[in-house]
Amino acid sequence: MVEDNQLFVPTLNQQGYATVTIDPFSKKFTEYADGTFLEIGAAFGYTTLKALENGATVIANYMDDRHLKALSETAKEKGLSKLQTITAQFPIGPDFDAKSFRKILICRVLHFFSGENIKQALKKAHNWLEVGGELYVVCETTFLTNWQKFIPEYENRKRAGEPFPGEINNPKFWENTWSDNLPEFVHWLDVDTLSNLFTETGFEIVEVDYINRAGQFPSSLLLDGRESVGIIGRRVK
Ligand SMILES: C[S@@+](CC[C@H](N)C(=O)[O-])C[C@H]1O[C@@H](n2cnc3c(N)ncnc32)[C@H](O)[C@@H]1O
Repeated sequence: MVEDNQLFVPTLNQQGYATVTIDPFSKKFTEYADGTFLEIGAAFGYTTLKALENGATVIANYMDDRHLKALSETAKEKGLSKLQTITAQFPIGPDFDAKSFRKILICRVLHFFSGENIKQALKKAHNWLEVGGELYVVCETTFLTNWQKFIPEYENRKRAGEPFPGEINNPKFWENTWSDNLPEFVHWLDVDTLSNLFTETGFEIVEVDYINRAGQFPSSLLLDGRESVGIIGRRVK
């Protein structure tokens, strides 16, 4: 059991907090399958390490070398050799051939992207997947206690039919406890917005749902069991 105040680890590059526990969608990514796996925005690589322990071959990407160095050392200590790391800012880099991966995970990264940039990122991931390959995405929602002030604004935008009601250009106006370690733009997603983005970029949706973060996020942040959203999409052709 992880102590409440140890569930979140600040990233070394002030890009939010890494989680030490693995959510249900990321857990499915760790299950063994032939072929190569890719994790984008791996930070300390807790999920990548689990996939390696399950026998998978994994490429881990992150935009700050310090994290990847630590991950490589941990994998070495554990005798896990099927790891490659690539430092790059997604989706500008890294670049791979089409149909290179069996599974791709992007966990709690796309909520730093605008709706249009998410679309570009999903198109790239779709191209990198083998036919039959799966993309696993997890993002934060606005349904957290520290973002409650934004919920009425978000719901008004949703009623008005805005395609990306969770885009926030001024996080510190809406939240003033955890946003010191957040970038200047965040984008809280939900089941509808992510499903539309996956369908628009050619994925068949295998599963999509909210994630109850009890025991995974500091209890002070838990609102109503919709704290995060997860989706699995399959490339069918
Ligand atoms: C909130 S942390 C999540 C880390 C880890 N995936 C997790 O779920 O705990 C978000 C991470 O995404 C990384 N990130 C943000 N934009 C990125 C990009 N364009 N390319 C690669 N990584 C990015 C940041 O460096 C940050 O550490």
